[in-house]
Amino acid sequence: MEMRRLGSRGPSLPVVGMGTWKTFDVRGDPAERVRHQLVSEALRAGTRLFDSSPMYGEAERVLGEALGHHRKEAFVATKVWAKVEGERDEQIASALRFFQGQVDLYQIHNLSRQAEVLPKLLELRSTGQVSWVGATHYRREAFGDLADLMSSGKIDTVQVPYNARDREAADRLLPLAEELGLGVLVMKPLGTGDLLHQVPPRDLMERLRPKGVATWAQVLLKWVLSDPRVDVVLPATSVVGRPTENAASGSPPWFDEEEREAVSRVFSKPAQASS
Ligand SMILES: NC(=O)c1ccc[n+]([C@@H]2O[C@H](COP(=O)([O-])OP(=O)(O)OC[C@H]3O[C@@H](n4cnc5c(N)ncnc54)[C@H](OP(=O)(O)O)[C@@H]3O)[C@@H](O)[C@H]2O)c1
Repeated sequence: MEMRRLGSRGPSLPVVGMGTWKTFDVRGDPAERVRHQLVSEALRAGTRLFDSSPMYGEAERVLGEALGHHRKEAFVATKVWAKVEGERDEQIASALRFFQGQVDLYQIHNLSRQAEVLPKLLELRSTGQVSWVGATHYRREAFGDLADLMSSGKIDTVQVPYNARDREAADRLLPLAEELGLGVLVMKPLGTGDLLHQVPPRDLMERLRPKGVATWAQVLLKWVLSDPRVDVVLPATSVVGRPTENAASGSPPWFDEEEREAVSRVFSKPAQASS
């Protein structure tokens, strides 16, 4: 899998990471055992970055336990999602426990309580318990605030939605991320699964096959990674076998602009139900 540097100052990481929203919010056997298999499979396939949040219910705990003695092989990106005073410190204490005393990238989830969360994350970065600090948002109304924080020079990375149907964050924020040398993580690369409901034309799949893609999910992930401003894409899955399938989209050759346009055009037509 191709490695890209997470911004101009960050580490080099394989381009396909893994998200945990919904997919890792499980409790008890056999569901937790399946998540352990997913993490082992992802690591075997070359994935290193795992993204989580206290907003995702049990996900941080389940991910931490699944990593176990493989913790040092992984790059853990999680978030603070504080809604009330006091939650920030509780969430940080839990995450440091789940991830063996170290969070590689700590993000402000949806800029929530930014004024109190950011100073704390910067303090943890200065003491080394956190290596990098970032921010996330999924709503276009918040992209202006996200741009202001990016321009402050205080954060290292930004996480935004970007996929073959939705380029707004990429158009509005990726030029700034590039100019500032910030790392870029991409959430919702499959539109939280919605893009997979659109059946791709067979001739398009045939045309793209020489680029090393055999499934529609791989096409959609490679579509995002074919933008060189993206550092890591974060598909989430609950199905064994898919971490390997998704990781396989992280190697060149990349799509050219015409190929990317052809994929995006699939979403300008009315959706067809998949069988
Ligand atoms: N505000 C924020 O900070 C924020 C917001 C949203 C997301 N995120 C992060 O970004 C990550 C990714 O976004 P997302 O979870 O919204 O969705 P996504 O990765 O775009 O899509 C996930 C969906 O795609 C399906 N899928 C994955 N690989 C597949 C494959 N090879 N074939 C068929 N289906 C496949 C999964 O279903 P199966 O389980 O059936 O495979 C799941 O329903 C999140 O998990 C989270 O870590 C952050």
